[in-house]
Amino acid sequence: MFNRREFMKRTGDGMILLGGLSFLPSCGGIKRADLAEEIGSAEPLKGLGREEMEILHLASLAPSGHNTQPWTVKVVEPGHWVIGSEEKRWLPAVDPENRELFLSIGAFLENLLIAAGSFGYRAGMEILARNPKDREIANLRLKKGKMEPFPLEKMRKRRTVRSNLLPGEIKGEDLKFVTRHELRPFLSMPLSGGHSFYFPQNSPQGKYLREGTVEANRKQAFRHPAQEELANWIRWSNRDAENHRNGLTPESMEIGGFAGWYVRNFYDRHSVLSKSFHDQTVDLAAKQAKSGAGWLVVTSPDSSIPTLLEYGRVFENMLLKIRERKIAVHPMTQMLEEEPWKKQTAKELGLTGEVQWILRIGYLKSYPDPVSLRMPVSRFVQGS
Ligand SMILES: Cc1cc2nc3c(=O)[nH]c(=O)nc-3n(C[C@H](O)[C@H](O)[C@H](O)COP(=O)(O)O)c2cc1C
Repeated sequence: MFNRREFMKRTGDGMILLGGLSFLPSCGGIKRADLAEEIGSAEPLKGLGREEMEILHLASLAPSGHNTQPWTVKVVEPGHWVIGSEEKRWLPAVDPENRELFLSIGAFLENLLIAAGSFGYRAGMEILARNPKDREIANLRLKKGKMEPFPLEKMRKRRTVRSNLLPGEIKGEDLKFVTRHELRPFLSMPLSGGHSFYFPQNSPQGKYLREGTVEANRKQAFRHPAQEELANWIRWSNRDAENHRNGLTPESMEIGGFAGWYVRNFYDRHSVLSKSFHDQTVDLAAKQAKSGAGWLVVTSPDSSIPTLLEYGRVFENMLLKIRERKIAVHPMTQMLEEEPWKKQTAKELGLTGEVQWILRIGYLKSYPDPVSLRMPVSRFVQGS
């Protein structure tokens, strides 16, 4: 994905063409705040009270691959939900085993659990999915219990930041803070505990991750099914963004200003399939991969469904606390999606277990507000 400066360079031809025009459009790209859901004034859905609507809205602020927001919630009866996923929002070309899908659902569950606690609900969960293609993932029951206050602003303000990561080393104390995972037990859900490893940019492992990320991006950029899938999830125009409220927008890809206006008006899914787009993707990945302090790699003992859900929770738990220390954590997942890196990365890094996350990490000068869109609760709640 591009940043603005890079994009301006790349769209030189189009810009010259438009450079003589005497007007500049005033309207920008659609951001989260433009379509904010007013839970307070929305009609609650059948079987859900206002607090439960708010809990589900907060859960949906979790990150997901290509921002597909793959979660569904079936209201069986008040306080009893089945959390699942919708096949139309899977990513078979880059995530054929639904590994990232379960990580995303895990992040959703982490938000759900924390938000429920802050409204005084205890959540119990039983995992239903036995294989990665099962659509029903977990049975969840909410019971009124003790309040566990949490600053929900952290959930509202969390976002992925891909640009302007500073090169300064991450301080030891910050590293400890970021990688200390304090998950609340989800009642019947056992926890295996996460292992995070930090590799600065100038370490041999940092070099391996940087170069591997660029090469894996290159391979993916020229793999047609992966690009077709990406094309289906980019919302170039404001109208498309407003209709879908999911996927990647120019704003969320950090293409702002005039470049943002240009792509909103002149780009479509065919642009994503062009050679120049592929080249831009690789150039940008290379630029991103070398900025920031280094890499965090998170490993788990296995890739079972409960483990993936837990590691989605571990990730979200980490994301909820980084903003206060002006730290950005950017998943760069292509090495876990493309061969040979998919098989080799753990061994090359000298790690045991399975790599679940490859994250670029760095300090920011200032933290931007969230821009990625979210679907209204009514769109992912079923049977209401
Ligand atoms: C499993 C998973 C994989 C992701 N992989 C990437 C990635 O490879 N590159 C990237 O730029 N963002 C990646 N992301 C971040 C998502 O694109 C991002 O969460 C989504 O667009 C919503 O934006 P937000 O995090 O700002 O709310 C990933 C997120 C998840 C949960």
